[in-house]
Amino acid sequence: MTITENKIYQAYYTKSEPITDYMIQLLNLKGTETVFEPCAGNGIFIDHILNQFNDIKIEAFELNHDSFQILSNKYATHQNIKIKQTDTLVDIDLELFCSMGGKYDAVIANPPYGAWRTVSERKKLKKIYHGFYTKESYSLFLYKSIVALKEGGRLVFIIPDTYLNLHRHKELRKYILTKTKIKEIALFPSSYFPNVNFGYANLSIIALEKCTDSKSCAENELKVIKGYQSVGELNHKDLKHIKKIVLKQSDVLANQDHAFLTTGNTKIHLQIQNAIQTIGDLCDCITGFYSGNDKEFLKVRHKKIRNSKRYETVDLTKIEFECNSDMTNGLNQDKEFVPIVKGGNKKYYKPDNWFMKWTKKDVEFYKKNKKARFQNSSFYFRKGIAVPMVSSTSITGALIENRLFDQSIVGVFPKDKTLIYFLLCFFNSPTCNQLIRTINPSTNNSSNYIKKIPILIPPKNELNKINKNSVKILQEIQMSGQYNLEYENENNKLITDLYGF
Ligand SMILES: C[S@@+](CC[C@H](N)C(=O)[O-])C[C@H]1O[C@@H](n2cnc3c(N)ncnc32)[C@H](O)[C@@H]1O
Repeated sequence: MTITENKIYQAYYTKSEPITDYMIQLLNLKGTETVFEPCAGNGIFIDHILNQFNDIKIEAFELNHDSFQILSNKYATHQNIKIKQTDTLVDIDLELFCSMGGKYDAVIANPPYGAWRTVSERKKLKKIYHGFYTKESYSLFLYKSIVALKEGGRLVFIIPDTYLNLHRHKELRKYILTKTKIKEIALFPSSYFPNVNFGYANLSIIALEKCTDSKSCAENELKVIKGYQSVGELNHKDLKHIKKIVLKQSDVLANQDHAFLTTGNTKIHLQIQNAIQTIGDLCDCITGFYSGNDKEFLKVRHKKIRNSKRYETVDLTKIEFECNSDMTNGLNQDKEFVPIVKGGNKKYYKPDNWFMKWTKKDVEFYKKNKKARFQNSSFYFRKGIAVPMVSSTSITGALIENRLFDQSIVGVFPKDKTLIYFLLCFFNSPTCNQLIRTINPSTNNSSNYIKKIPILIPPKNELNKINKNSVKILQEIQMSGQYNLEYENENNKLITDLYGF
C-alpha cells in the first residue's frame, strides 16, 4: 500500500488476540444476531466471530478494493456473510436503514483514525454530520454505527480516547450520553496495539447499548477501567491494580462540555464540577505570534541553544530588551529585534535566547502575510505567564515580561496584576497538573482547557508567602539559573492545602 493510500484507508489491522478476544466477549453474542462490521479490513473480527458461531449473519463494509476482493474470496462459501465495497459514512442503503431506526443487533469495529479526505468529500461529510468533528473519521464511524443499531443493540469499538474530553467531540459525547447506555470504557496506552503508538492520546475500547429512552440513559452507570500493565490484562480486569471508576451518565452530561472525568479522584472531580471561578474568569488566555517565515525572521543567541541549527545568530547590539506595548507596531530607532518566548517546558523563567525581527517594515509584513499570525497583539510585551501548549510531563508556566510569545504558547494575563506571582506558582504546581490532566488527559494545554482550570485564591497571609517565595525563585533563577527547592515545596504545600490534593 502506498503512503497516500494508507492515509486514505488508515488500515491498521487488529492483529492482537487479547484485544480481539476482549472485544468479542464484550459483544455478548448468542448466535442469532445480525452483526455489522463497518470497515472490515481483512476480516479479523469476522473470523473470530465465526469461530464461535459459524452461521451467524454478518454484513461487512470495506472501502478499499483490494481488501474487498480478499474478503469476498475468503467468505465466498459463507451464505451468511455479505460483503459490500462502499464508503460506510455515505452509503445510501445504510442511511435508509438508519432513518428507519436501525438494522443491526451488534456492531464491532476498529475504524480508521483520521482518514484523509478530499476537500469536496469533507464538505459533504460536514453537511451530513452537521455539528460533529468531521476531520476525525473514527468519531463519524462511531456515530453512524450507533444510529445503525436497533434499539438494545450492542456496539464495541476500539478508538483513541480523545472523544472523552476534547472540545471538538462535545456533540458526539452528548449523543452517546443521551442515546446509549455505556457499559464500559477500557483505557490503555496506544502501544498495546501492534504497530501503533501515537503520543497524543491513549486508546480505548468502548462497549455500549443503544437506548432511545433518555431517562434510562441518564440513570445508567458506566465503568471506566484503567491501570493495565500489559495488553494481556484486558481480559483480567479483576486484578488488584486495575482501577474501575463508576460514573453516572447524568453526571457526565452535567459536566462542562459533557467531559468524562476519569481520574477516579473525587476531590479533583468536585473542584472541576463545582468551580466558582476558573482561570478563564480571572485571566485573558491568548495564543501567540508566528512570523510566517521563522527561518528568515527568528534569530538565536548562540548555536549551543537547543534546536537552533536552522537559525542565524542575532546581533546582540540590535536587541531591544525593554519592550513595551508602544512597540507593538515595530521598533523605532536603531534596534531591530525583540526577545520572544518559545514553547518547551521550563518552570518560572526562560532566559532570552530567541529573538524576532521587529522593525516597522517587518511588522507590516507580519500583518499582511497569509502564513503569519499577528494575533492578540494588544498583549505583546505585557506581563503574563507563558504556558506551553504541549507538555509531555507536567504543565509549566514561565514569566513573560517585555517580550513577545510565540504560537506554541498560551499567554495567561491575569486581569488583577497582583495575582501574577501566585498564578506563576500555581501553573508549576502538581495540583494544577492534576487539574489540567483531568480536564484533558492528553498532552494538550490549549487555551480552551486552561480556561477551565478552577482557581481558588489563598487567604492574604498565604498569598503573601507564595508571592515572596516566587519572587525569590525568580531572582535566584535570573542570577544562577537555579533556585532553592524549599521555596517551591512550601508554595506547593500551600496550594495542596488550599485545594485538598
Ligand atoms: C483500521 S483498519 C481496521 C480493519 C479491521 N476492522 C481490523 O480491525 O483489522 C480500517 C479499515 O477501514 C477501511 N476504511 C477506511 N475508510 C473507510 C470507509 N469510509 N468506509 C469503509 N471502510 C473504510 C480501510 O480500508 C481499512 O481496511
